[in-house]
Amino acid sequence: MNFIDSERSKILVVDDHPASRMTAVALLSVEGYDIVEAHSGPAALDCVKQANPDLILLDVMMPGMDGFEVCHRLKQEEQTRLIPIIFITALNDRRSRIRGIECGGDDFLTKPFDHLELSARVKSLVRQKRLNEDLDHAEKVLFSIARTIESRDPNTGNHCDRLVDLSQVFGEYLNLSRPDIRDLMWGGYLHDIGKVGIPDNVLLKKGRLNSSEWEIMKQHVVIGEQICKPLRTMRGVLPIIRHHHERWDGSGYPDGLAGPDIPFIAQVFQVIDIYDALTSERPYKAAFSPEKALEILAEETERGWRNPKLVEHFSSFIRRMHSGENNISIGQGAKSWPRRSGIAVPNLLPEVARLGFTS
Ligand code: SIN
Ligand code: FE
Repeated sequence: MNFIDSERSKILVVDDHPASRMTAVALLSVEGYDIVEAHSGPAALDCVKQANPDLILLDVMMPGMDGFEVCHRLKQEEQTRLIPIIFITALNDRRSRIRGIECGGDDFLTKPFDHLELSARVKSLVRQKRLNEDLDHAEKVLFSIARTIESRDPNTGNHCDRLVDLSQVFGEYLNLSRPDIRDLMWGGYLHDIGKVGIPDNVLLKKGRLNSSEWEIMKQHVVIGEQICKPLRTMRGVLPIIRHHHERWDGSGYPDGLAGPDIPFIAQVFQVIDIYDALTSERPYKAAFSPEKALEILAEETERGWRNPKLVEHFSSFIRRMHSGENNISIGQGAKSWPRRSGIAVPNLLPEVARLGFTS
């Protein structure tokens, strides 16, 4: 048996005409759905908050707040954006259909309802919603794990938040596409997720790693890639996870890629990652000034480790940022981003500590 179908789904029917609501309610009750009703836009918004429905049948024309507005608001909210919305429109109302798509509606039905059509669409959208939720939860699990690993590592502090911030502004500075910027930002959280597979005596070792310990540590990029690979939405982040320790001259790991063979997004991420590590305080070193950090990056570039053009861009970006030119500033990214991308990132370590698994 498919467990998706074994839970009763809840449907919200929104229409200002009681008679229209009754028809839909009657048809859906027969199908075994739980029904909630609302007679207006604002009542619908309240209902959604309280009842958390699996699908909404939404009339377009309602006095006060129309269906488009209701849909628009729900699709913008993190809590409600995954609830499928079927608009109820008049037959052949092309303009309404276009507007409905524009404000995020998922499907349309015309009155009077065709029983079979209503039933088929509702069923398929509810199923789709459950799958989307599962994917959403899987993503959140990965981000939580990444966050938790970070907080166990005495070296990193709030490294990830800062990486997300810098990734956004530097990505925009380089004119990268929206999806690339998103991947860079996700990389900020996820690049070292593979450290979950590194034993504590290596990961948390104080002092230098010996060569066999290094070999173990290097595995984190491959482990991380394996962890994130099954999720299609992670595809763009995989090159960052796998290749963020490659070097321009081919002396890096895991593949020893050289020059432009290293995926560009991984090169960009690496420069940000290193810069942040240099400018942050670590147990074994004080924070370097931006100027000093750029100097070290330049030295590493001369040694052949980094892409000279990219490091040049990065240096002028940092200098501009610190001179306040071009209104570049950071600090907004990590705060505004989790909301926009739908990922709130809890750190689970306090929970784990409470359970007594860590010291
Ligand atoms: C890390 O990924 O932060 C540690 C491993 C390395 O620096 O190569
Ligand atoms: Fe790493």
